[in-house]
This record gives sequence, structure tokens and C-alpha cells, in this order.
Amino acid sequence: MCIGCTQNDLSSNLDNPSLHNNSSFPLGTAVRFKPFQKDAQLRRLQQHHFDSYTAGSDMKMNQVMPTEERFDFSIVDSIIAYAEEHNQRVFGHNLVWHSSTPEWVRQKAKQNPKWLLPFLKGYIQSYVGRYKGKVHGWDVVNEGLNTKGAGFRTDTIWYETIGLEYIEKAFEYAHEADPDAILFYNDFNIERDLEKFNTMIEMVQDFQKRGVPISGIGFQMHIRMDIPNDIIAYTLKTAAETGLHIHLSEVDIIFNTHDDTRGGGIERYTEITPEMLVAQAKKYEELVKIYMTTVPKDQQYGITFWGFNDRDTWIRRFFKMRDWPTIYDENLKPKPAFYGFLEGLKSNQISSKSNLN
Ligand code: XIL
Repeated sequence: MCIGCTQNDLSSNLDNPSLHNNSSFPLGTAVRFKPFQKDAQLRRLQQHHFDSYTAGSDMKMNQVMPTEERFDFSIVDSIIAYAEEHNQRVFGHNLVWHSSTPEWVRQKAKQNPKWLLPFLKGYIQSYVGRYKGKVHGWDVVNEGLNTKGAGFRTDTIWYETIGLEYIEKAFEYAHEADPDAILFYNDFNIERDLEKFNTMIEMVQDFQKRGVPISGIGFQMHIRMDIPNDIIAYTLKTAAETGLHIHLSEVDIIFNTHDDTRGGGIERYTEITPEMLVAQAKKYEELVKIYMTTVPKDQQYGITFWGFNDRDTWIRRFFKMRDWPTIYDENLKPKPAFYGFLEGLKSNQISSKSNLN
């Protein structure tokens, strides 16, 4: 029984087919644990559709170590317990990200540059070690590449203090702490910015050659309606040729645009029309089909939405613009995009079944 929700909520929500029951690979969504704990309807939908759990922010460095060298694992422990109870895979997002590096770490590294690398080692080994066997995979380094074009992001405390080596060191420390965890490099726009993509692939190939323990590539896949499918197919296929796991790790599809910075939304559309909803459904269907046809089955780590409803989407909060990027609407009802995505998943079952015949 659901306390605080009507019969109508229950039937209208769970009548829809479960996404993960129709999928041959894990499906997830980013979750903000505190509001989620208070929202029974959201939890029911998450349990109905997903078998993988990614924390939207709760597992980042500024959340688990907000003050100097003292971990606070309380929320992460609750996440693990929740996921175990509901048979979900926990995906760790993330270990190193310029944007969630606490200010105290930055200050300390500036005062004493030699402190940073041993700190990184201790941080990763304690964190990954604590959740060994419980967190299935990690985004070890997030967004280490330049926002646009070729090359690495150099204006971060990690690069400035340690140099490019911080990336491979992070992978090594994580692997030492949990040799079975699947370790990802994760970034945005690599599905469309070919210069950025090429830098990423060169880094991965170099890691593979030198035995740096990378095991996956995360395409955040925050895309826009006008990002061409053939570019997405090309980058996914080329990435899969490395033999690594491929995760679509933060999927959403916007209509408007932004300049990649907080508050940088550029609104072209202020309302959504039925035609736009249908076009978005098609784009979701095509995206899942591209994933399934370009990435071999045993490399399909899964698809994770960065929030599954337009009420809670980070896009509105972060870029300060209206948009409708997800598969559920503001009232937590499935959009055409939901059915498009489901169609895409089902096409896989048909083709994989017919392959067996
Ligand atoms: C976002 C969260 O969703 C927001 O709530 C937070 O304010 C900022 O971070 N790429 C990532 C994610 O790798 O961690 C970001 O998540 C979205 C962009």
C-alpha cells in the first residue's frame, strides 16, 4: 500500500510496461537520495523501470568528504542498502571530477602540492575499498578532457598539481582497491565533437597499450534533438572497437541549447508541441537502436538516464531554461519518448531472438 498517494497514481504509473524487464542490458537513472526517500511515487517508478542505481551527486567528492579528510558515508551506505533490497546494481559516480572537488582540497593542494597525489590514493582506496563488491563500476575520472575540441582540461587542481598522470593514477588506485570493479572514463559531447572524441580514444588506446586498468568508456549522452544519428553511431562503434564496456551514462535529449556552463541556457522553445513530443520519441527510439547495433552485446554495460522525468530534470535547474529532456512528464506520466525508448528496446529482443533461430 502506498501511503499518501491515490489509487489513480498507482494504476496509471505501474500499468506501463517495466523498461528493465524489456531490456537485455541494465537500465538506470540518476537519483537524488534525499528527495527520493520522501517520495513514494518516485521510488515505485524507479523500482518498476530500473535495475541500476546511479547517484546524481550523492557519491561525489564534495558530498562524501565535505570537510578535511573526514569521510561521511551515511548516504552512500543508505544507497547501497536500498539497491540491495531492490536487487539493483550500484554504479559509482564519480571519483575525480574538477567540478565536485571540494574547496578545501584545492586550498590544501595549493599550499602543499606534494600532498595531493597521496591524498588521491588514500581517498580512492578507502572509498572503493569500502564498497568492494558492492559498487559494480565507477566513473573513475569524469570530464578530464577540454570542454570543446582536442586536448585535456588543464585548469583543474588535479592537472595543475599532478599533471596528466592523475588520470591513470586514479585508475590504478581504484583497480588496486577493487580488481573486479568496472572502471570507466566518462565525458560529455564525445558522441558529437570528433576532436574531443579522438583525444579520448588516443588516451584509451595508450592506457590499453601500457596496461593502465581502464575497462569502460562512459558517453554521458546529454544530447540535443539535432545531433545527427550518424555521428553518434560512428563514435559509439569506434569506441566499441577498443573492446571496452560502453555505458550511455547520463542520457537526456533537449530541444533548446546552452553554452555548457551553469545558467547558460538558450531558450528557443518555450513550450512543447505534440509534434515535438513525437519527434523526441523517435530520437529516443533511434538512440537505443544505435546503441544496440553498434555496441556488441557483451560490451553493453547499460543505459542510464540523467533523471527520468521533466519535473526533476537537472537541465532546468542547472542551465536555468525550460526544456523537456526526459521520458516522463512533470506529472510523472510517460511521454511519447517513453514508448519510443521501449520500442527501441523491444526491437533488440526481436532481432536477438531471430538470430538464435
Ligand atoms: C549534475 C547534477 O545532476 C546536478 O544536480 C548538480 O548540480 C551538478 O551535477 N555531468 C555529470 C554529472 O557528470 O555529475 C552532472 O550532474 C551533470 C553533468
